[in-house]
Amino acid sequence: MSVDPRQFRDAMGHFATGVTVLTTRHEGALHGMTANSVTSVSLDPMLILVCLMKDARTALAIQAAERFAVNILTEGQDELSQRFARPGQDHFDGLELMEGPHGLPLLPDCLAHLAAQVTEIVPAGDHDVVFGEVDHVHVNPNGGAPLLFFQGGYRKLPGMTRLG
Ligand SMILES: Cc1cc2nc3c(=O)[nH]c(=O)nc-3n(C[C@H](O)[C@H](O)[C@H](O)COP(=O)(O)O)c2cc1C
Repeated sequence: MSVDPRQFRDAMGHFATGVTVLTTRHEGALHGMTANSVTSVSLDPMLILVCLMKDARTALAIQAAERFAVNILTEGQDELSQRFARPGQDHFDGLELMEGPHGLPLLPDCLAHLAAQVTEIVPAGDHDVVFGEVDHVHVNPNGGAPLLFFQGGYRKLPGMTRLG
């Protein structure tokens, strides 16, 4: 059975995810992009992966810098997600940044931040799978609800009801 790319996107759109902004600093310049293809891979060593479009400018900067930060967004940060999903603008304009390890820019008021050193890049179709070893984590003590992405739109977690 042949699958249309739109059907593939539609089907995967039913897999709800959180939303992150990946940030890096390369040769003094700041880069950032919205990404939801973030996955925890291994505990020992602590590895994460992100799938990055080959021509995304932030992807190239992450490869060059060999480091990136993962900013996990809260439900109130959908505009921030939109901002970092638009190519060709100064994403960081007017934002009050925090400085993470190795000068990585961290966005304020996120649910959590991680920083990682790139360990491997595996080409996969029109994307690259970038693996990183986590060497810094910070969880916002104020907590909060996550920003979700589902069926092509931003969502809130209703009531945060815990099952089981
Ligand atoms: C919710 C959401 C999730 C996204 N996830 C990814 C992703 O996992 N990988 C990716 O390459 N692009 C992803 N994108 C698209 C990039 O954010 C977008 O192409 C961005 O413009 C790339 O920025 P840059 O080229 O300026 O670095 C996502 C966009 C949105 C809105």
